Amino acid sequence: MSKEWTNVEEILEGKHTGSEVNLRGWIHRTRNIGNMVFLNLRDPTGVVQIMTSKDTVDNFSEVKSLLIESSIKVKGEVAEDKRAPGGYEIRASEVEVVHAADVYPIQEDHSVEHLLDNRHLWIRSTKMIDILSVRSSVFGGIHEYFRKEGYKEFQSPILTPLACEGGSTLFPVEYFDDKVYLAQSWQLYAEAAIFGLGNIYTIAPSFRAEKSRTPRHLTEYWHAEVEGPWLEFEALLELAEGMVCHVVEKVMNECEDELKRLREEDMSYLKNIAPPFPRITYQEAVDILQKEGFNTKYGDDFGTPEEKALTDMFEKPVFVTHYPKEIKAFYMKRAPEDDTKVLGFDLMVPNVGELIGGSARETEIDSLEARLKEEGEDLSIYQWFLDTRRFGSVPHAGFGLGVERIIMWLCTLDHIRDAIPFPRTPNRYRP
Ligand code: 4AD
Ligand code: MG
Repeated sequence: MSKEWTNVEEILEGKHTGSEVNLRGWIHRTRNIGNMVFLNLRDPTGVVQIMTSKDTVDNFSEVKSLLIESSIKVKGEVAEDKRAPGGYEIRASEVEVVHAADVYPIQEDHSVEHLLDNRHLWIRSTKMIDILSVRSSVFGGIHEYFRKEGYKEFQSPILTPLACEGGSTLFPVEYFDDKVYLAQSWQLYAEAAIFGLGNIYTIAPSFRAEKSRTPRHLTEYWHAEVEGPWLEFEALLELAEGMVCHVVEKVMNECEDELKRLREEDMSYLKNIAPPFPRITYQEAVDILQKEGFNTKYGDDFGTPEEKALTDMFEKPVFVTHYPKEIKAFYMKRAPEDDTKVLGFDLMVPNVGELIGGSARETEIDSLEARLKEEGEDLSIYQWFLDTRRFGSVPHAGFGLGVERIIMWLCTLDHIRDAIPFPRTPNRYRP
């Protein structure tokens, strides 16, 4: 006979009070008090207290010996109990031990390194379950937004001979007798695809051999990218804004409890996220920073302290546009009113800095070739890409969002590694 299984969430919502239920999950905590043992049982929806005693379960001595992370099935009656975490308790009549766990390597107060070494176990922690639930919702929100806007999903190769974002962060891979790289971006292939498919997007891994150890860089991250023919710069900013707002709304709907726990109740900031986001130029950003006492000169890239100062000044994400062309990628379109600047933007948010980078694309082949040469690139590898400017070139634009960065922002994480289940950083690729 098949049993009906109840989940913890329904019990904590008071849906089964006074009834008998069957639950299954893992022992999160145990507490022995004389002839009673209190087990906190965790399932993917929450944690609830189970009361067992010598008089109520047959295998009490077995239950008493169980260590945390043992898996069990429980039958019992649901009772309201103010002393129990969450306000409910299951008074067990049967406990079936599915697997009695060994001594768990994670107890209390461990170093960051120990938790990273045991990441395959740490992802069972309530904090990681909350973050990974938000992560799932973020992916759903991005797909939903682009599909709703009529964008098709398009995939590009991961093994590639090209440097989309410059040579300094490429991961080389032996390719038989040749050398190729792990993709830094989907963009250059997407620029070829829009001539046929039109508006397209992706969510895929990107790879950056970033030697700088910062709290917001991974070597492998998930990249949501979009590209569209005929897309103008202003419409591109609106698309980025629309996507961010949709994701915020989706996550607030699906993961309100998770966000409240992770953000320690501070939801007013997220509730306020709606279009339009403020827009300032790079020049304005430099002026603001100088007024704030920074030594920033025109032409400098912003570091973490500068980005923090800028984002703290606004109640919403802020667009910085019109960067000097020297500090941006070769493919960015020169601004029509001043060709020392590009029609590129970074969208910045508190606690993270750059969340999105995007631009209108340079359509003139001579200018692209000149910029590639300046970067020391081998033009022969880019000939296929330059064909996009030989055969029916059209104005177009796109952007890329670091998915872990939006999770970091939404969950107010101190470090980007907690936004991904198995982080890859310069000094870690295990487990
Ligand atoms: O600004 P980036 O380098 O732009 C591009 O790759 C463009 N080709 C995107 C496009 O226009 N299609 O990267 C885009 C975003 C950044 O804004 C940041 O959020 C994220 O990707 N990002 C990283 N996230 C985690 N770890 C890293 N090492 C990252 N590098 C970039
Ligand atoms: Mg960038």
